[in-house]
Amino acid sequence: MNSSSDDQGPANPIGKEPVEPAQDQESEASVSADTKVPAIEVNSLSKKYGEIEAVKEVTFQVSQGEVFAFLGPNGAGKSTTIRMLCTLTKPTGGSATVDGFDVQRQPTAVRRRIGLVFQEPTLDQQLTAEENLRFHAVLYRVPRQQVDERIDRVLKLVDLEARRKDLVSTFSGGMARRLEIARGMLHTPAVLFLDEPTIGLDPQTRALMWEDVLRLRTEEGVTIFLTTHYMDEAEYADRIAIIDHGSIVALDTPDELKKMVGSDTVELSTSDNKLAASNLEQLGYKVKLGEESLVVYVENGEQQVTAIIEGSQVPIRNVRVHRPDLDDVFLHFTGREIREGHAERAFPMHFRSFRR
Ligand SMILES: Nc1ncnc2c1ncn2[C@@H]1O[C@H](COP(=O)(O)OP(=O)(O)OP(=O)(O)O)[C@@H](O)[C@H]1O
Ligand SMILES: [Mg+2]
Repeated sequence: MNSSSDDQGPANPIGKEPVEPAQDQESEASVSADTKVPAIEVNSLSKKYGEIEAVKEVTFQVSQGEVFAFLGPNGAGKSTTIRMLCTLTKPTGGSATVDGFDVQRQPTAVRRRIGLVFQEPTLDQQLTAEENLRFHAVLYRVPRQQVDERIDRVLKLVDLEARRKDLVSTFSGGMARRLEIARGMLHTPAVLFLDEPTIGLDPQTRALMWEDVLRLRTEEGVTIFLTTHYMDEAEYADRIAIIDHGSIVALDTPDELKKMVGSDTVELSTSDNKLAASNLEQLGYKVKLGEESLVVYVENGEQQVTAIIEGSQVPIRNVRVHRPDLDDVFLHFTGREIREGHAERAFPMHFRSFRR
């Protein structure tokens, strides 16, 4: 294992420093030629920092070409997991492979196959966008004859061609983040790790970034592993692992996770809630009568709302259809809201209205 890579604070071997030559005896025998190999395979992976169990025996697989999200609050163990998968932090238990290579025994092979966008920005502000990319191309030994073509390609993927000659110091936060993603893709990685790629960005920029990310998957076939604590953002992923206190508490597609939480609800406020509830119950609806309103539990609230209003047979004051969202999922699996862990965030968590 490369000793310089382990827990050395902000040192950044993937983002800025050269990838160091392997000090271990690695074989890169054609593991990745087998397209069936999972992009990421993790078995009982753990990391302890003294008494702190940052990651506790997590197990999951990510298929090639999948967009996979780790969703969890501050301190859940998201970055620590990424750091282990990117060979920057040594696991204290378990094992993991990336594109078929073992992160502990074959760290150099793993590094060749990954791109990484750190939670903290790592671009050189005093260089232009293109210079940042050229620097990275040298560090990653992108073949000289391919460099121009790759730079053109990745700038196009993130829609920054027009700004290539501008200093990064003149970029907005969103543009800089997209340039970091472009840089992570420059050496054509098999797996791209994005640690909170949209943190602090406004909803429009986040939507643009997601277009970029999904384009990378479609056009370059890259597998994407990202972390986020934005519920709405996790919905873009093919599958989500909800991580809390170092453990995966649920793992499935966004739709399946929502189904596990329960049915849609239609909440009615009427001129006579009791009568409305009784009328609806007679029609076979499952109804709960509250003090100010009644709640009807149905498979598909949007489709049934009209029938429910008619079936209540009383004047309606207010109607609210609620479909379980990932907030409900998080609450269901952890017993608390994801926002509780966000006191130290420097920006507001107000992005829920932004939807695909
Ligand atoms: N180098 C370290 N030394 C000691 N403890 C650490 C170290 N890195 C992380 N931890 C601890 O491990 C736990 C998980 O941290 P991690 O950075 O993985 O969380 P996270 O899910 O990425 O959170 P955030 O959303 O804030 O980025 C935390 O309790 C953190 O304090
Ligand atoms: Mg983190």
